[in-house]
Amino acid sequence: MDVEVSEILETGDIMIIPLFQGTEKAPNNSTKGLSRSASIAVKSAISSDKFDGREKDQISIWSEECQIILLGVGEKNKLTLKKSRDFGAKCFSNLPENQGRKIVIRFTVGWNNENIASFAEGMILRDYSFDKYQKKEDKGEKDSGWSIVCQATKRYTEELELEIKRLSSIATGVHLARDLGNEPANRLYPEEFGRRALEWAKGKENVEVEVWNFARLKKEGMNGLIEVGKGSIHKPCMVFFRLNPNVDINKQVPCIVGKGITFDSGGISIKGSAGMDEMKLDMHGSATVFGLFQALHATSYEGRVNGITCMAENMPSAEAYRPGDVIDTYSGKTIEVLNTDAEGRNVLADGLWKASELNPSYIIDLATLTGSIVVALGHEATGLFSNDDSLSRRIKKAGDDVDEICWPMPLLPAFEKQMTSSKIADVRNQGKGRWGGAIQAAGFLKQFVQEREDKNGEKTQIPWAHLDIAGTAGIWGGDSNATVSHGATGIQVRTLHRLITRD
Ligand code: BES
Ligand code: ZN
Ligand code: ZN
Repeated sequence: MDVEVSEILETGDIMIIPLFQGTEKAPNNSTKGLSRSASIAVKSAISSDKFDGREKDQISIWSEECQIILLGVGEKNKLTLKKSRDFGAKCFSNLPENQGRKIVIRFTVGWNNENIASFAEGMILRDYSFDKYQKKEDKGEKDSGWSIVCQATKRYTEELELEIKRLSSIATGVHLARDLGNEPANRLYPEEFGRRALEWAKGKENVEVEVWNFARLKKEGMNGLIEVGKGSIHKPCMVFFRLNPNVDINKQVPCIVGKGITFDSGGISIKGSAGMDEMKLDMHGSATVFGLFQALHATSYEGRVNGITCMAENMPSAEAYRPGDVIDTYSGKTIEVLNTDAEGRNVLADGLWKASELNPSYIIDLATLTGSIVVALGHEATGLFSNDDSLSRRIKKAGDDVDEICWPMPLLPAFEKQMTSSKIADVRNQGKGRWGGAIQAAGFLKQFVQEREDKNGEKTQIPWAHLDIAGTAGIWGGDSNATVSHGATGIQVRTLHRLITRD
């Protein structure tokens, strides 16, 4: 999508005029450039009692030169960034297919830059479909490029242009994460993810990607990853993302870790078949990490950031790991496997320990980790667990700022105790019952975050947060996320970009 900003001039193929509730007469400029008859039609529609600018009020007016849509956006003092973004997204998804590609949105009285930019962001985010496996001739006109012109009062336009450019650069990361998440597991397996990351880094001066293959993982003793991935013909790997690797060398910087199970069949503890196809999305944590690096790079972020993704395919086979097995993880701690379907935590055990070795300012992991978090929060919010209140607050704030809710969940000691009460190993990968499954999983992960000495010589754990995105990574029907129609959401790319660039 091509997005431009201009003062109120041309009219486009389709012209959208978003209006607040109570607008009784056509705002100045709103009909600029229209023919006399179209202008009269717009003015009389706005003054009529058929249109009051309430949310969902919408009137289409046909004219020779362009199709005009009056869009009610409700009360002005109730407009939020989220509402603006959602209006933009919904407006884009309802655009007529056959009226031309050039869309003009005319922001008149009452609109400020922030809300205009958010409206545009909603359109940009929603302009996404994963149709690469559909025959070209079946595609509707919607696939050919839209061009959007956001029109506002001249004194606003310069600043607005910069902000929309920034948001659309971030959206490239969201769209990349969705592309990776939507990719079927026969096309995107661990090494293919690594290959794409290497390809992405090519030609980008301030970016480094390194892939540890199966042999290297073996050599390093990363048996959490090895054991989960060894049942598949597609062997596991670990991918390292480094942005601006040569700056702030003596400064602690963030490390973001992603669960990258390219398909989660459950392994020997195999899942039921209903909805199993959705488990191609079990690598969305790694997709978010990749998308975040794209977003940071596209917005020319100058700080150093590290990312680690733990890639494996969880399959049952003669070579697969079994319930009852004991894994020697990279940390030196052992895991008793009680359920091979609790595989995400096993691979993250190695990823988190490795992240700790980088002596980061904080670690955040993202994982489609538990069905239990979906029971707790549905598709509305990501579960946020942390050993550090300040980090947790900052993540929550960043999520709130961009309307990707991260809801704080407790790391209750009783569940942590369950996970460290194996009779034969240091940690067990399943708790003692179904209840609190997401907290059990978080309690397990916490065992693999290293401690280090603080200023007073006391040992404390590295600040760490775990985002359980099992409920928010994908939308299969439902309307909890207006910026996506189907499939992977690209969740938390915008949150983490915000956190890292504004913290
Ligand atoms: N990938 C699943 C969790 C999941 C569920 C993601 C639904 C997205 C939607 C994870 O690996 C898993 O299977 N977790 C088990 C853990 C249990 C066996 C302890 C679960 O949550 O049931
Ligand atoms: Zn699983
Ligand atoms: Zn999984």
